[in-house]
Amino acid sequence: VKFSPSTADVSILRKGAENVKLLRTHVRGRYAPVQFSSMFDQLEEYDTRLHEQTGRRLRQAQVFEIGYGARPWRLIALVSMGIDASGVDVEVPLLSGGWREVLEAFRRNGSQRALKSLVRHMLVDKRERSVLAQELQQRGCDLRIEASRFLVSDATSLDLPDDQFDLIFSEDVFEHIATPSLEALVPRMAKWLKPDGLALISPNVFTGILGGHLSEWSYPSVLDPTVKRKSAPWEHLRARRFPPNTFLNELGRSQYRELLAQEFAIVEEVVLLPDLGREYLTGDVARDLSGYPEEELFSNKVLFVLRPNKGKSLSLARSAFPELR
Ligand SMILES: C[S@@+](CC[C@H](N)C(=O)[O-])C[C@H]1O[C@@H](n2cnc3c(N)ncnc32)[C@H](O)[C@@H]1O
Repeated sequence: VKFSPSTADVSILRKGAENVKLLRTHVRGRYAPVQFSSMFDQLEEYDTRLHEQTGRRLRQAQVFEIGYGARPWRLIALVSMGIDASGVDVEVPLLSGGWREVLEAFRRNGSQRALKSLVRHMLVDKRERSVLAQELQQRGCDLRIEASRFLVSDATSLDLPDDQFDLIFSEDVFEHIATPSLEALVPRMAKWLKPDGLALISPNVFTGILGGHLSEWSYPSVLDPTVKRKSAPWEHLRARRFPPNTFLNELGRSQYRELLAQEFAIVEEVVLLPDLGREYLTGDVARDLSGYPEEELFSNKVLFVLRPNKGKSLSLARSAFPELR
């Protein structure tokens, strides 16, 4: 099975329509209760995995997030909890919403993206931020936003000191980076990590039912039988009539595995939404997708738990040459 990269070369009308759909979701969400419990569960999972693999806890660790996003709640929460965390994103986030920041967002992110962030900032971010502040208070912490911890740069060409971080994590980012750039990023990540560090990388795998990044097939709308759709299940692997409004490298799970294994030992691959969409894999859909292994079709979000190979070579060298200790 071949996966060819999409160009995100989408007409302005189509992009506009997708953006209106997203805006509608945000406006609807404005009146729905905001919850951060799953995010805090995820941070606890990071802590547990870090402890299992390195013996250290998050509060003792230097942590780095790749692609913190326009609503960087994980990074804000970590910093507010007193954890030495920072991150990078290629786009300017609206942290204060001040005019200088907004101008910088327009200059660097482009007018379409900046406008989208500004609308979202005004409609939902403030409310979400106050809910996050309350949830942090319940954990005995004050919300802290330290702009210096939010680097703005392309991670794939970022220069950071070697052996700096105990944990690098990334959620829903790698699928948006072109494969040659990922090939540059993966060795950089391995270099930035301490030899006994840990990386938790969780892309949205293209071959899963969510992989096409169409709003009609987002999570949890896949689970909703009442949703009316123009596109078909796994449209992005079949007729491809509706391109996404974002760049996708179209990598499948086995391709991520191959790429990451060049620099890391893969300790575990955790499928976060197993079997998602199985009820759609019947008739014509099943026939069209018969060339794809089930592992690909039912992967969606996969957490790759990674230890840098340099740690392994160092410990092998240490066992061969004890004077290295
Ligand atoms: C789908 S968002 C995910 C954001 C966040 N991780 C989350 O889970 O909400 C993808 C993010 O990756 C960022 N990104 C894409 N390519 C990048 C790169 N080469 N370097 C840094 N950030 C990048 C985008 O700007 C965007 O904020």
